[in-house]
Amino acid sequence: MRKKIAAGNWKMNKTLDEGKTLTSSLVNMLSSKLPGNAEVVLFPPFTHLTSIKEFIQDRSNISLGAQNCSEHDSGAYTGEVSVEMLKSIGAQYVIIGHSERREYFGESGPQLAQKVSKAITAGLTPIFCCGESLDVRETGNHEKFVFDQIEEGLFHLSLEEVLRVVIAYEPIWAIGTGKTATSKQVQEMHLSIRLMLLDQYESIASETIPILYGGSVKPDNAQELFAQADVDGGLVGGASLLAQDFVDIANSF
Ligand code: PGA
Repeated sequence: MRKKIAAGNWKMNKTLDEGKTLTSSLVNMLSSKLPGNAEVVLFPPFTHLTSIKEFIQDRSNISLGAQNCSEHDSGAYTGEVSVEMLKSIGAQYVIIGHSERREYFGESGPQLAQKVSKAITAGLTPIFCCGESLDVRETGNHEKFVFDQIEEGLFHLSLEEVLRVVIAYEPIWAIGTGKTATSKQVQEMHLSIRLMLLDQYESIASETIPILYGGSVKPDNAQELFAQADVDGGLVGGASLLAQDFVDIANSF
């Protein structure tokens, strides 16, 4: 069975104290065995990682991740954080290629491919994001668009390496807009992504790589989304900032 994941991307929200309060509520409310043996992964801002780690270290089903990493190992890159630094503070995951990073920080396909490789080499699990804008969806080219993103970001990996990746399909038009893709649209894209993986790699890749959906996942739509055959969980933004909502989402498997 594929791994099920409820990932909470806090983005640039919460002071340290607010983040601690949120995490402590989550730890108290989340059962030590989630439905479907799901894992919860928290993605606080860099500044909070070490402190948040302390709250979750006794919990085997709650992990920690960073929202970004550098494609460089070390050196004169002011403001950047390397995969080895993340590894050294106990992060297990890193989000790579979120549409906000692509759009506002100009992150390119080749740069993301490098970040993915660095993360895997350091032993972190990359959550590689892909997804089309509304314009692309309306022209009907969304599958090709997502295919190109995945090809650029992941297809340089060997089979052994790609098996360490998690993919998140996040249509940009559904992020933070309250407009969720329908479960049919999500399932269709996730299945297409599996077929891309089958075409490029062996069936073990298409069968075992978790594919998450992101874009206005809420307690009232999570169950239907997660029930789709090829949806293995969610990358949750806004609703991950509210303890009860995020717990309800994690209990939706
Ligand atoms: P949202 O964000 O849940 O607020 O739409 C999802 C994301 O950007 O990962």
